[in-house]
Amino acid sequence: MRAKRTSLVHIIYFSRLNLSPDPAKRSEQIGDIGRVAQKKNEFSVITSFLVIEGNFACQVIEGERSSVHETFDRVNADQRHREVQISEWREITKREFVHSFKSAQRTATNETLFAKANLLPMLQRGTPKASAIHGLCVALQNDAMSRQGIDHLFI
Ligand SMILES: Cc1cc2nc3c(=O)[nH]c(=O)nc-3n(C[C@H](O)[C@H](O)[C@H](O)COP(=O)(O)O)c2cc1C
Repeated sequence: MRAKRTSLVHIIYFSRLNLSPDPAKRSEQIGDIGRVAQKKNEFSVITSFLVIEGNFACQVIEGERSSVHETFDRVNADQRHREVQISEWREITKREFVHSFKSAQRTATNETLFAKANLLPMLQRGTPKASAIHGLCVALQNDAMSRQGIDHLFI
């Protein structure tokens, strides 16, 4: 018999980044965030996807309830972003993301996915829908996976 699963939740939030205007420093800061987040998330069996769009961050964090809670409390207190707003926090039946931490910004290859989601005006108004953030994160993950030839594993 399969072991009973612990309760899984996800949290979807968005925030305004407080990063350096200097592109080299900014990408160093994003790299620093990712390195620590990946280690911490691996340890807590968290899976997540972060989208950086303009000066905004949007992230889906999924995992066991108390791990998601602890992770979000840390993220929420981080001075590298502000105005952290929860868009959705609910139970889920399965995880959607495969990496402990993955982040994406607009590039020439994923530009159409960002354009289709059109998150920026919603973020500027402070009204992005959780489904729009989630949809873009899933689309970006699927796109990256299929470029690596591993899309068939996740149908
Ligand atoms: C936009 C953004 C996303 C982050 N995502 C995560 C994350 O998924 N997991 C995580 O542990 N820390 C994440 N962090 C980093 C945490 O805020 C924090 O710096 C880190 O967990 C170390 O916490 P500590 O200094 O209390 O040990 C994120 C930070 C920012 C600004």
